[in-house]
Amino acid sequence: MLRRCTYRLSNNSLPSLKSILKSVAGELQLDEVNAACFDGKVWKATGETVNAMSPIDGNPSGLRVQLATPADYERCITNAKAAQREWQLTPAPVRGEIVRQIGEELRKYLNPLGKLLAIEVGKIFPEGVGEVQEYVDVCDFACGLSRQIPGQVIPSERKGHFMMEQWHPLGTVGIIAAFNFPVAVAGWNTAISMICGNTQVWKGSPTTSLCSIATQKIVTRVLERNNINPAIATFANGGVDVGQAMVRDPRVNLVSFTGSCQIGNEVAKVVAGRFGKSLLELGGNNAILVMPDADLRLVVRSVLFGAVGTAGQRCTTCRRLYLHEDIHDEVMARLKECYKQVKIGDPTQTGVLCGPLHTINAVDAFLEAVEKAKAEGGQLQIGGERQHIGVPGPNYVQPTIFSISPNAKCVQHEVFVPILYVMKFKTLEEAIGYNNSVEQGLSSALFTKNIQNIMTWTGPRGSDCGIVNVNIPTNGAEIGGAFGGEKATGGGRESGSDSWKQYCRRVSTTINYSDSLPLAQGIDFGSS
Ligand code: UN1
Repeated sequence: MLRRCTYRLSNNSLPSLKSILKSVAGELQLDEVNAACFDGKVWKATGETVNAMSPIDGNPSGLRVQLATPADYERCITNAKAAQREWQLTPAPVRGEIVRQIGEELRKYLNPLGKLLAIEVGKIFPEGVGEVQEYVDVCDFACGLSRQIPGQVIPSERKGHFMMEQWHPLGTVGIIAAFNFPVAVAGWNTAISMICGNTQVWKGSPTTSLCSIATQKIVTRVLERNNINPAIATFANGGVDVGQAMVRDPRVNLVSFTGSCQIGNEVAKVVAGRFGKSLLELGGNNAILVMPDADLRLVVRSVLFGAVGTAGQRCTTCRRLYLHEDIHDEVMARLKECYKQVKIGDPTQTGVLCGPLHTINAVDAFLEAVEKAKAEGGQLQIGGERQHIGVPGPNYVQPTIFSISPNAKCVQHEVFVPILYVMKFKTLEEAIGYNNSVEQGLSSALFTKNIQNIMTWTGPRGSDCGIVNVNIPTNGAEIGGAFGGEKATGGGRESGSDSWKQYCRRVSTTINYSDSLPLAQGIDFGSS
């Protein structure tokens, strides 16, 4: 029988939290009541006014947010559409310069925004700063790209003909980000989409509105300072109804959605139904595989960051660990030792490695997953319970390890909590089979020093994921690579490499500069 979590909330959040929030709110230009909508002209929302909560103590943070409605979204999309022509006609390197300045502006706010992420999302402060850095890095990347958006020249089979390929903006991009990366995920979409010449409207999670509002304020400031119509980047942070309006709207040429496989599936169908494009970053159920020749020091540190980082709330979190039978006991012993040292608590405090889960529902999901693993024969190695000692609120759980059969059903499911399933294998082929046996295909990592293993793992018969690492964790990807995954992860690619193509439409052009009209494939169509 599942224990549902019920709590009585007190009216006062931690005094230390209040004072941190007060200082960052000042720096980030947040008010006591904040409109969660910028329509390109004014900050105005007409939805419900809610308390911005902090998962640190489960209490209202002290600031309030007025959420956006579909009517507010309508103003955003109308204004973004009106701004489209001018922005598309702005040379790409000029667009890149604006994005560079957004990166520069964000650099100034690494600390306050990092703190706000700690307070509102619940991630530890260094990870909060890292998230903002991720947006900064994408801005640098996008700025460089804006001077070199490629396009091919293709040899024509016809005399006096010239063929080329160009990449034009799609129009307007709708961005739906999730609670766990409200700054970086919105950022890597916005930066790339902007240099490609699109206008955008975005929404984050209503539970991380302050982070989204603070980020939008920074972007808007840069646009205004440069006399660029701020309606090229609009923002409507509301609930499901705002997301639905965006997904259904034929004026939104691309919907970039980050969230669960289940909702992503719905988004894909609705957008495809109106012949729109979608870019999906959905769930992950990521594995680390360890061969007997691996450097076990690296393994333990990587698994710790992979499985416990962000309290297991990254799409790239390591949820499955496959250990070769020869090193299984050794790694398990070292991991347990390491887990014992993990400080659970207030993520704004130095030394804490595991903050709270974002919602109290996630605590329920954690407890349910623990029960399921036990019912399926899992042997609890460490953790498995809510954390009560040394924590300031109800949302804390213990990072947990289960030994379990690779065939257990629970291993197939992504639960957004810090539970790690550990399993044994004998051969690399067997372990690759396990890695590929889940429906998601986001990230994966192999630990080995053997070149044959590495080439097998990264080759076509190896991992079926979009991210295939060696000797580093599943999470914490750099922005330079294309980020995303296969199968139920949705197939999208964002941030680096040639992900920019997803924000463009391709044009194939053939120019005849001769005086005759030879047809392709040598067709004679009444030439005489
Ligand atoms: C996510 O969890 O939605 O690779 C994004 C990582 C980060 C991005 C995670 N760069 O873990």
